[in-house]
Amino acid sequence: MLLTITALLLHVAQAAEYGVDVSFPMQHETVSSNYDHLPHNNHQQQASPASHPTVMFHDQPIQPLGDRQREYQTFLKGCVDAFNASVCDEFEESRIQTNLRQPASMVNYTTIGFHKTRVPDSLWQMIQGFWERNHHEDKNSNKNQEKEEWPPGNTFVNHWSSPSYLVRIIEEEKGLRGREGPRLAKTIWDETRKMVQEWTGQELEDCSMYGIRIYTKGSILNPHVDRLPYVMSAVINVAQDLEEEWPMEFIGHDGKATNITMTPGDMVLYESHSVLHGRPFPLKGEYFANIHVHFEPTGHSIKYHGYDAKADKQESVGKYKVNKDIGGHEIEGHRVLPPYIIPDSPEDKIYREEHPDTYYFGINKHRSSPAHVYAGQGKTSELVGLLEDQLHLVHSRDRNGWLPLHEASRSGHVETAKFLIEKGANVNGRFGEKGGTALFLAGQYHGKNSEIYKYLQSVGAVWEEPEL
Ligand SMILES: [Fe+2]
Repeated sequence: MLLTITALLLHVAQAAEYGVDVSFPMQHETVSSNYDHLPHNNHQQQASPASHPTVMFHDQPIQPLGDRQREYQTFLKGCVDAFNASVCDEFEESRIQTNLRQPASMVNYTTIGFHKTRVPDSLWQMIQGFWERNHHEDKNSNKNQEKEEWPPGNTFVNHWSSPSYLVRIIEEEKGLRGREGPRLAKTIWDETRKMVQEWTGQELEDCSMYGIRIYTKGSILNPHVDRLPYVMSAVINVAQDLEEEWPMEFIGHDGKATNITMTPGDMVLYESHSVLHGRPFPLKGEYFANIHVHFEPTGHSIKYHGYDAKADKQESVGKYKVNKDIGGHEIEGHRVLPPYIIPDSPEDKIYREEHPDTYYFGINKHRSSPAHVYAGQGKTSELVGLLEDQLHLVHSRDRNGWLPLHEASRSGHVETAKFLIEKGANVNGRFGEKGGTALFLAGQYHGKNSEIYKYLQSVGAVWEEPEL
């Protein structure tokens, strides 16, 4: 029996909702068969040995969308045949790990994480005009459509069997597009930024605009989350020639799949850092052309007049102001933990490893610097490396006015305290304006006979209690 994708999805939607790893492997290497709605997973029915799934449900489908595992294997085989197993596997492993780790580590800005809307009329006219004038091949002997280059083994799309093409909006090198491209690009930036800001309530920085990308017959967009810092995105359908709908599947913040179809001029806004998205069913038809726009939140919220971001009231409009009191990228001139990474999450750990000089803003509510953290943990060797590059951190204060030396003292790390003092830490610095000194903390936490207390005394530390 042949079912169109739309009919199949409708059929499934009526039968049951589904989540990750159903249409394509997303967070595991294989598609799942572990759904509550499937008879072989019905615990009541499994209660008696006679109803064991291998007996009772031998011929029942375990994949509600058809044999998706075989589809995936065919997809992967295409990659392996075109390149080799190791590069394809490496991309897949990275995709799946990121799919698993990143959504759990990201701050969510809207309830579900995606929203379908329309491109504003004036912009849509510009896009349409641009497409009409520029998408044809070999116009004026210039090749307007260029084949998109993909790294060997990249499994983002099945470019080995369904190549994708680009009609670049800005094509300065070839002298194409003239002033039309930059003008269109600016309008796309301005309009989409405004809409995504309204939708999320966040001030945004522009990251990347890509396209117009043209997917061709048989294309599959492997479900993924975008690489940071692409946090919020918009996809605009520019043109299409399809035999049947080619829906984009989103796994929302509720963990459920939603298939969204688009016609030219439709736009979907989505939190691409946390919402898994893809087109796991092959494109049936000739082509599907999209513009992709990506933004990064600055950490400043935007207060719209009459706008409630949490309620996802996308229809609200009005003037906005940026609230500079909330977070941000810069504290005392140092990069801080991006506002969209959840402190202490798996992604935070990776971010810290990749950005060792990053302030730990948000990791704890005290806004500690790495020097505070290392000092509190007695990690002297890490401190050595850190202060070699950023000696000033020895004087950094957290939100409560604590110095790294206070942390070392409270934790009783003599070697660490020694090193900090060698590097210029003020042995009698007080935490906050009227706080106590390092010696006070050593006495309070470890007693006057402790190593840390004796050491601090030996270098001239004085006891000052906090003034309440
Ligand atoms: Fe994406």
